[in-house]
Amino acid sequence: MSFRKAQVSRPIAYLTIMKRILKDTLGVFLLKGWKQTDKEKIVLVDDYIIHEVIKIHSESFQDKNEKDIIKYSKSSRKIFYVAKSHEGVVGYCIYYLKPVISSGGFKKQAVICSIATDRNFRGKGFGKKLLKESIKEMRLNKISSIILYVSKNNVPAIRLYEKMGFVTTGQIENICGQKEKCYKMELKLV
Ligand SMILES: CC(C)(COP(=O)(O)OP(=O)(O)OC[C@H]1O[C@@H](n2cnc3c(N)ncnc32)[C@H](O)[C@@H]1OP(=O)(O)O)[C@@H](O)C(=O)NCCC(=O)NCCS
Repeated sequence: MSFRKAQVSRPIAYLTIMKRILKDTLGVFLLKGWKQTDKEKIVLVDDYIIHEVIKIHSESFQDKNEKDIIKYSKSSRKIFYVAKSHEGVVGYCIYYLKPVISSGGFKKQAVICSIATDRNFRGKGFGKKLLKESIKEMRLNKISSIILYVSKNNVPAIRLYEKMGFVTTGQIENICGQKEKCYKMELKLV
């Protein structure tokens, strides 16, 4: 890399780090006073089951980001949902919160940053259950909407989201993977 290029990219790198710190800090702040619903067979992540979650995550995605999973298990524990069957952990759904300021005022929005079920337990309703139970809790906590990004080729996930009431609100590149096109989907709650 040339020196000039390094000079230009360093402030961008700092800005990215600052944005990430701000996002994480705000996410933790917005979780203050979070209310829990009673959830059947859905538990919150803890130090004992995180390894099973990481296993499902790394078997489900090429772009493995274990560090983020561990980070969210600490900073967003209250909205890190884990599905269990009698055979153990079978899936997870991780959210983070962000503020949205519009003409309607200040609102809290939730973002699904990762969801997956164990390969051996797909098509058995665990994905639906994770979303149904977590959406109920989002409503209780007055979250205005839930957003997510999904690859245009990921038919099972798109069908699952549509089934839960999500609608496509846009298309974007490079979020679900390099040069990969994805849909932005949203579920309005209020
Ligand atoms: C997407 C995923 C989480 C779905 O989980 P799941 O536990 O298999 O989903 P469910 O059994 O609850 O299915 C719910 C609905 O999703 C849809 N669906 C699930 N699998 C499907 C498939 N292979 N093809 C088409 N639709 C499918 C169906 O509409 C289904 O409803 P139905 O059973 O009433 O027909 C799972 O396939 C997965 O982990 N994929 C890999 C990781 C991933 O892509 N995550 C999403 C990133 S955005």
